Amino acid sequence: MNESVGQTGFDTARVDQMRQILADCAAAPAEAPRSLPGHFYTDAAFFDHECRTVLRNGWHCVGRADEFTEQGDYLTLNLLGEPLIIVRDGDDIKALSNVCRHRGMLLAEGQGNANRFVCRYHAWAYGTDGTLLRAPRMKNEGFDIKSCKLGTFPCVQRFGFVYVSLVPAPPDIDAELAGLEAVIGAYEPDQFAIVHAASEVWHCNWKALVENFMEGYHLSVVHPQTLHGYTPTGLSRKGPSGVGFTTYFANYPDNIPPRGEGAPGLDAQSRHRSTLFAAFPCQVVSVAASLLVSLSIRPLTPTSIEVRWTMSVYGSSLDGDTIDQRIALWQDVNAEDREKLEAMQTALGSVFANGGPLAGDDYEGTIRDFLLWLARRDAAAGG
Ligand code: FES
Ligand SMILES: [Fe+2]
Repeated sequence: MNESVGQTGFDTARVDQMRQILADCAAAPAEAPRSLPGHFYTDAAFFDHECRTVLRNGWHCVGRADEFTEQGDYLTLNLLGEPLIIVRDGDDIKALSNVCRHRGMLLAEGQGNANRFVCRYHAWAYGTDGTLLRAPRMKNEGFDIKSCKLGTFPCVQRFGFVYVSLVPAPPDIDAELAGLEAVIGAYEPDQFAIVHAASEVWHCNWKALVENFMEGYHLSVVHPQTLHGYTPTGLSRKGPSGVGFTTYFANYPDNIPPRGEGAPGLDAQSRHRSTLFAAFPCQVVSVAASLLVSLSIRPLTPTSIEVRWTMSVYGSSLDGDTIDQRIALWQDVNAEDREKLEAMQTALGSVFANGGPLAGDDYEGTIRDFLLWLARRDAAAGG
């Protein structure tokens, strides 16, 4: 049997078979779309394959630009096994490798402000651009301090979000998101100011949360007290999609008062709904006139994710108490979704979890968009 490290020939054959099932599922006619079978949410070998392909090759939201306003503001995270420091360095926000070039110690942890990163193992010190500034007692003739700069990753800002890719030549993010500006630009998403961030581990597959956040079909069933009054399922409408994103509109009933003014250029319709988008593979966002909530999904295992979510507000239309209420509301909403996804995860290993028919475009068309994206990217990634 042809065996490579960590993956047997048996695994390879199963992954190839699943890739074909993914392609077949995406090829289902638009009027009879289907969801992926359960093993796409549980299989370890397929998860490894995704990590190497659609996940690693994608752009990942790592935070809001206004989390890095002062020189040296930084945030650490682990993205698909890669430890990163996101840091303000002059006019740039950079994504540095959080791995000391001496013997591989993790350099920084948590979030804070630093003018240099000093390794707590042997005290090598790096600047915020990753340059090695000092390496105590390293007198060896062959040692070149300049050759020990921290690794860096592509890092860009769009819509007030910071995106990182783990590959040196990632897809063109402007091509990925072309068309999204027309859907959300009037909200002025880059003008929102962050008021809350939290991380939690959920026991579900990463795709399940992308799909859950992006479909309006469950809103009235799962969120009867928290969301139904504002965004009932019946008023969900599919929005435009692009190369690397999809959208839908969660419209408010006519009798609901506006929830804050928001940007001056917003039309009445945009003010009277939440607009949701997914920037594939792993970011899902809800933007409304005065509130923007973003979830960055970090796959950990086939059946677990770290979810870092942020809440940002537009201008000063929301007072402190209202902001606290919105944070509490979103904590409740997230808990309601998490409970469903973790319960579903326990069922997806069943031999009867074969994937089922999806609802129409306004309710689950975004899941079909995601499936089409997955299949396209998987095919492009090759073997
Ligand atoms: S591992 Fe960082 S200084 Fe030795
Ligand atoms: Fe939900």
